[in-house]
Amino acid sequence: MGKKVEGQKLIVREATPAEKDWLYDNKELFSEPYKLIEERRRPEHKCFILLKGREIIGYQAFELGRMGLMGLLGTTKYVSSRGTSLRKGYEGRKLGRFLVGRVREWINANGIEYGILAAKKPLAKRFWAKVGFERSNGVQMHEKDVTIFGINFKKSKTPPRKTSWPRALGRRRH
Ligand SMILES: CC(C)(COP(=O)(O)OP(=O)(O)OC[C@H]1O[C@@H](n2cnc3c(N)ncnc32)[C@H](O)[C@@H]1OP(=O)(O)O)[C@@H](O)C(=O)NCCC(=O)NCCS
Repeated sequence: MGKKVEGQKLIVREATPAEKDWLYDNKELFSEPYKLIEERRRPEHKCFILLKGREIIGYQAFELGRMGLMGLLGTTKYVSSRGTSLRKGYEGRKLGRFLVGRVREWINANGIEYGILAAKKPLAKRFWAKVGFERSNGVQMHEKDVTIFGINFKKSKTPPRKTSWPRALGRRRH
């Protein structure tokens, strides 16, 4: 696989069942492997993939939930992370920002209010803070223990689509 990404078309869309199987079967290609077996067939489970041409170079997975007052089932929609990762070698080139920015458009269009995730690596923590998540437990950004992050999507600025096209990919083509 070449690392040349210039001029290649980037697409973010929901994964088909076969693409989820591919992610699972090729988990060693990703720093954070997609390892869900039972969950991935459920309708509450969503998995978006980042495609460079026909090649899957990243995914963002989460579980859709609804909550009400005091933990009761209600109408407020939220998403709980089930993993986000680029393929090894693609990190640090704004592709993560692009992926979550596009997924954020889906989240906003579907009236989802909150998001929650856990991050262990300081670099990953910095990434989530950059895209609007806020730390919600006592574990600091630089520590290697798990920090819990939350976001109120309705109050947060969406990662801007205009500026989220990664420069590493060259000019955008339609
Ligand atoms: C976490 C991940 C999705 C981020 O995507 P990315 O394309 O590498 O990140 P971006 O290039 O979009 O960077 C966005 C911000 O994150 C931070 N960041 C990301 N990678 C970084 C790196 N290698 N070094 C320093 N900062 C980094 C920067 O603060 C950057 O801010 P900037 O845009 O103002 O420069 C990606 O690095 C990845 O897949 N990592 C391995 C798996 C993982 O850790 N998943 C998260 C588990 S919670």
